[in-house]
Amino acid sequence: MKGIEEMTPAQIVAELDKYIIGQEKAKKSVAIALRNRIRRSRLDDDIRDEVMPRNIIMIGPTGVGKTEIARRLAKLARAPFIKVEATKFTEVGYVGRDVESMVRDLLSSAISMVKQDMKSGVEDEAKKATEEQLLDLLLPGTGKRPSKPSVHPNKPGGVQLGTISISPQGIKASSTPPMEIQSQEIPQVEEKNQEEEDKRKESKEHLREVFRKKLHDGELEDRVIEVQVSKQSNPMVEIMAGGQMDGMGMDMGGMLSGIFGGGKKNRKVTVKQARELLLQENIERLIDSDNAIEEARELTQNMGIIFIDEIDKIAVRRGTGGGQDVSREGVQRDILPIVEGSTVNTRHGIIDTSHILFIAAGAFSMSKPSDLIPELQGRFPLRVELEDLDAEAFKSILTAPRNALTKQYQALMATEGVELEFDEESIIRLAEIAAEVNRSSENIGARRLYTIMELLLEELSFDACDRKGEKVQIDKAYVNQRLANVVEDKDLSRYIL
Ligand SMILES: Nc1ncnc2c1ncn2[C@@H]1O[C@H](COP(=O)(O)OP(=O)(O)OP(=O)(O)O)[C@@H](O)[C@H]1O
Ligand SMILES: [Mg+2]
Repeated sequence: MKGIEEMTPAQIVAELDKYIIGQEKAKKSVAIALRNRIRRSRLDDDIRDEVMPRNIIMIGPTGVGKTEIARRLAKLARAPFIKVEATKFTEVGYVGRDVESMVRDLLSSAISMVKQDMKSGVEDEAKKATEEQLLDLLLPGTGKRPSKPSVHPNKPGGVQLGTISISPQGIKASSTPPMEIQSQEIPQVEEKNQEEEDKRKESKEHLREVFRKKLHDGELEDRVIEVQVSKQSNPMVEIMAGGQMDGMGMDMGGMLSGIFGGGKKNRKVTVKQARELLLQENIERLIDSDNAIEEARELTQNMGIIFIDEIDKIAVRRGTGGGQDVSREGVQRDILPIVEGSTVNTRHGIIDTSHILFIAAGAFSMSKPSDLIPELQGRFPLRVELEDLDAEAFKSILTAPRNALTKQYQALMATEGVELEFDEESIIRLAEIAAEVNRSSENIGARRLYTIMELLLEELSFDACDRKGEKVQIDKAYVNQRLANVVEDKDLSRYIL
C-alpha cells in the first residue's frame, strides 16, 4: 500500500472499501477531506494557515457505518483519532470548559501513537539491554561493566540475587555481593594474580555465555530473581490529577505521584516476568519523551481527527424549550470555539485546534442539522447521508470486509481445531433474516448481524472444545433450524436478537 501522502481520493475510497460496504457518498467526502489536508500541507506557510478543514456531518441511522468510516479513515491516514459522544457534555456534573478534554484526549492518543512508532525503532536495543540485565541479575559480577567481582570462580553455578535499579535517569545493575565473598577476593599480590585474574575473567565470560544460551532456550524462565521497578502509579493520584487539573497546564499527575511515592520497589519475579518489566522500562528510557510529545503535538494540530457522535442529540428543535434544551444549546456553544479554532491548554503545552478535522455524526431522526445553532452549522459545511443497509448489503458485510464476521468466527473456531464453512445459501439466508428482524423489531443496522451470528453459532461455540478435527458446514437448513423459531416469533426475537 502506498503512503497516504500519495493516495488519491479514489485510492482512499478503495482502501475504505476493504472494510465498509456501500456508503459511497460518505466514503467519498471523507476521502476528499483527507486529500485536502495533504494538499494543504504542501502549501506555503502564509496561505497554509488560511486553509481551514472542511468538517463533515454524517447523517444516517444507527449501525450503518458512520463510526466505522471515520475510524478506518484515521487508521489509514495514521492520524490521531478520538470519538466523543456530544451528549456526554450535557450530563450533570460537566462544566462548560470540559469540552476541551476532547482535545487533550486527542493529544494523548497522538502521544501513544508516536511512542508506539518509536518503540519499534528502539525495540532491538531494548531487548539487548534487557538480556544483559537479566544476565547481571542471574550472574552478578560477570558483566562487561567494571562491577566488583562477586561470583566465586569455584562456584560456577553460584547464582545470587542481584538488584537492578531503574530510575528515570537510567538503569543500573548493581550486584551487591555478600561481604565474605568480597573479602575472599581482595586481590592478592602481583603477576601470578594477573594470570589468575585473566582465567577468572575467561571463566566468567564463559559462564555468562552458557547462561545466555540457557536464556535463549527458555530454560530459566521460571527462576525467581529480584528486580527493582518503579512503583505502579497510585490510582488515587490519577483520579485527583485527572480531569480538571489537566487544564492547569502542568504535570500534576507527575507531581503528586512524586509526593505520594512513585518510588522504587523490589519485586521477586520469575525471569519471564522480569524480562517483560525490564523491557518496558528500557523502551521507556530509550524513547525520547520530549521528542515524542513534540511530534505528537504537531500531528494532533495538523492531522488530528475528532469524531463527535450523537450530535443530533444536542440539536434543539425550534419552538421547543426548557431545561434540557438550554443545556444542549450550551454544549453547542461550548463546542463552537474548539471547532472554529482556538487554543487549548494541556499538560504538554498549547494545542491550536484550527486544523483539526471534525467529523460529526447523528441519526437526526428527531431533529435536523438545521436545528443546530447557525454558527455550528457553518463549521460543518459538508453533509453526507448514509443509506440504510438492506439484505444485499448484509450479504456482503458478512463475507467481504477484511474483518468480516464469518472470517472472525472461522478464525476463532480454528483455534479449537474446528473448521467452519459457510455456503453461499446460508449467507443469503442470514442476510435476509437480519434485514427481516431489523424491519419487524428495531432497526439497528449491521449490528443486527452480530446478534444473529452469535445465536447461530451459540451451540458450536459452547462445545467446539470437544469437536477438535471436525469440519462444520453451515448451510441454509442449519440457519433455519437455529433461527427460524426466533424470527417467526416477534416477541421472542425482540428478546433474543
Ligand atoms: N457499511 C458497512 N460495511 C461494513 N460493516 C459495517 C457497515 N456498517 C456498519 N458496519 C459494522 O457494524 C458495526 C456498527 O457500525 P458503526 O459503529 O459504524 O455504526 P454507526 O453508524 O456509527 O452507528 P451509531 O449511530 O449507533 O453510532 C461496526 O462493527 C461495523 O463494522
Ligand atoms: Mg457510531
